[in-house]
Amino acid sequence: MYPKTRLRRLRKRLFQPLFKENRLQKTDLIAPVFVDETISAPKPILSMPGQSRIPLGTVAGTAEALWDCEISAMVLFGIPAQKDGQGSQAFAHDGVVQKAVREIKRAVPDMALITDVCACEYTDHGHCGIIGDTAYGPDLLNDPSLDLMAKIAVSHAESGADMVAPSCMLDGMVAVIRNALDGAGHEDLPIMSYSTKYASALYGPFREAADSGYAFGDRSTYQLDPANAREGVRESILDAEEGADVLMVKPAGFYLDIISSVASIGLPVAAYQVSGEYAMIKAAGEKGWLDERRVVMESLTSIKRAGADLIITYFAKDASGWLDEEQ
Ligand code: PBG
Ligand code: ZN
Repeated sequence: MYPKTRLRRLRKRLFQPLFKENRLQKTDLIAPVFVDETISAPKPILSMPGQSRIPLGTVAGTAEALWDCEISAMVLFGIPAQKDGQGSQAFAHDGVVQKAVREIKRAVPDMALITDVCACEYTDHGHCGIIGDTAYGPDLLNDPSLDLMAKIAVSHAESGADMVAPSCMLDGMVAVIRNALDGAGHEDLPIMSYSTKYASALYGPFREAADSGYAFGDRSTYQLDPANAREGVRESILDAEEGADVLMVKPAGFYLDIISSVASIGLPVAAYQVSGEYAMIKAAGEKGWLDERRVVMESLTSIKRAGADLIITYFAKDASGWLDEEQ
């Protein structure tokens, strides 16, 4: 008999679990959470069925519920009451993320808290940093924005975050943040860099979720062209050299080749299954066109197979329940 036929038959009988090359685990999963300072009850995100912005008052409960499902890491995004040109609420001691971190740490001390370090939720123009005139018209200014990121990261560290995740794709962002953290006595705080982040249409629903739509232009001057793989890997190598502790590829599902290449750099790799990936699966599932549960598990397993150690996904809680049922 051909070995392939034998393998197929064996697999059908006793050996399926033994031959599994990759196994999704709850400890692979990180849940993104949107905390909104302007609301007092959860507010559903229409383009992400099943997801809501939550008020500060229920953030501890949300963390407890995730913890009960054995999801032990969260990424926090904040929606502030006030926005301005400089994103100043992003580094305020009483900013929404800073308060959320303190609340969660009180309720669930062992929850690993990762904070998104960016300004797009906090600027009135919706861009990720400071805007100014350039030879090509108004655009993100790299160096002034770096100072802002350093301040945001230090203020998150001060409030008790366990890891900071700069997501703005500025040049030199990791080095500047590392320096600032070290200078403020946070030498042990790791940086998860959104190191390879593509200018993707899949972030559409996030802009509703995080209220971070932009007033002009787009983000293609600081995010990567989806056509470019080598450039994507180079971005992660540069961030590794600047001192990143964890690299990230985003989005995940359309970029499995990139995940696989970035994994070979040698640092832990996170992959972000973004809002649009979530929305597509949800919409087809709601219509009965796809089996939501099977597609979710297949997508997450594929991201793991590509080489991701960590997966940031809005399906974290659902997947945890489904993993229980598979045992
Ligand atoms: C902002 C940020 C974005 C996401 C995470 N951080 C949006 C963007 O870059 O435009 C997207 C996440 C998602 O779509 O789920 N810095
Ligand atoms: Zn941003």
